[in-house]
Amino acid sequence: MGEESETAPDRAWLPAGAPGSVASVPRTNRHLLGVETADLVAELLSRLRSREWDVRRLKTRELKELGQLATDLSTRVHDVAPNRCSPAKSLALLRKLRQHPDFTPEWLVGKTCVDVGCGGVSPLGALFGLLMAGAERGIGVDMDELVDPRVAARALYDARAAVISGASGPALQLSVEDVLARTKSFDFSKLALGDPAGIDRSRLDFVRGAFEACGFDESSVDLICSQSFLEHPPEPEALVAEMGRISRPGALGVHAIDGADHRVYRDASVHPLHFLEFPADRPDDCCNRVRPLDFVDLFERHGFEVREVVHVTTVEIDEQLRSRFAEPYRSMDLERLSCVRAKLFVRRR
Ligand SMILES: C[S@@+](CC[C@H](N)C(=O)[O-])C[C@H]1O[C@@H](n2cnc3c(N)ncnc32)[C@H](O)[C@@H]1O
Repeated sequence: MGEESETAPDRAWLPAGAPGSVASVPRTNRHLLGVETADLVAELLSRLRSREWDVRRLKTRELKELGQLATDLSTRVHDVAPNRCSPAKSLALLRKLRQHPDFTPEWLVGKTCVDVGCGGVSPLGALFGLLMAGAERGIGVDMDELVDPRVAARALYDARAAVISGASGPALQLSVEDVLARTKSFDFSKLALGDPAGIDRSRLDFVRGAFEACGFDESSVDLICSQSFLEHPPEPEALVAEMGRISRPGALGVHAIDGADHRVYRDASVHPLHFLEFPADRPDDCCNRVRPLDFVDLFERHGFEVREVVHVTTVEIDEQLRSRFAEPYRSMDLERLSCVRAKLFVRRR
């Protein structure tokens, strides 16, 4: 990173907070899939109180049911992707990286990684997944402020617990010994209490600011990732150019781009391409409307070879639907338009 100045992005993001007990760490996954954890516990207690279940005389069938209830609960806690602090969310980036055609587990060892637009809720979770897999350093960048340092710290504890306990599933192929060795500079007794002092900030850090103004040194980064980010900045080409500038030759990139009209997340009846019907000068609330497949040209133009494109979500587009779109979308070919969400795997030339 370059010299700090008055306009430099904010790196003082970890206030000396007063961490509390485990119970006092706010858990954003308290409310999952519409089921409150408290409701599940209440259900369990009511069965015990009503003597439907008697703890002293629980039979095999009831013990199994109790086990199932606990499994359901832990599955909800550990495996709900929409929850930004869940281990599933923290480990999603590592899962994507493993699909990169140039990735090998050995390649990641000792690497410096940047997560652009990491969000303010759990800004370090995805990078911590990469550290557990062998990366040396992770830097998360976002314009948003950190929502709660205690939640961000606790998410790291939860991610490692999910890997060590096996709750994250065998697909990640991380050995417990390796994970313990790679994370030994973190203090997990502090992270368990939501104390950010447990984070080894020489290896994992958050920079609050616009990525394009962060001033990373040229050719200093081995891996740049972004998840649901590139569809947001009004001028994404400048950001892709900055990624090209700071990536070392041979550096890898993984970019998940969500080109849907984001109103679908508030109203499922909205067509995912409805926003293309409006003229280009219509101010959109949060998306630049660049089509995911258009990023192929952008990355190629700024020093990257696009190694693979995965069409994550496609929709049927016919001439009639396309005729309703505004320019330039009305003149685009149907295949380009039909890809709504994509993953791009790139390598710096
Ligand atoms: C939809 S969120 C994605 C957050 C996270 N990657 C995730 O998957 O949950 C997009 C993020 O990009 C950030 N962002 C947009 N433009 C940015 C820029 N120029 N530099 C840094 N962050 C930016 C926003 O603040 C927002 O947190």
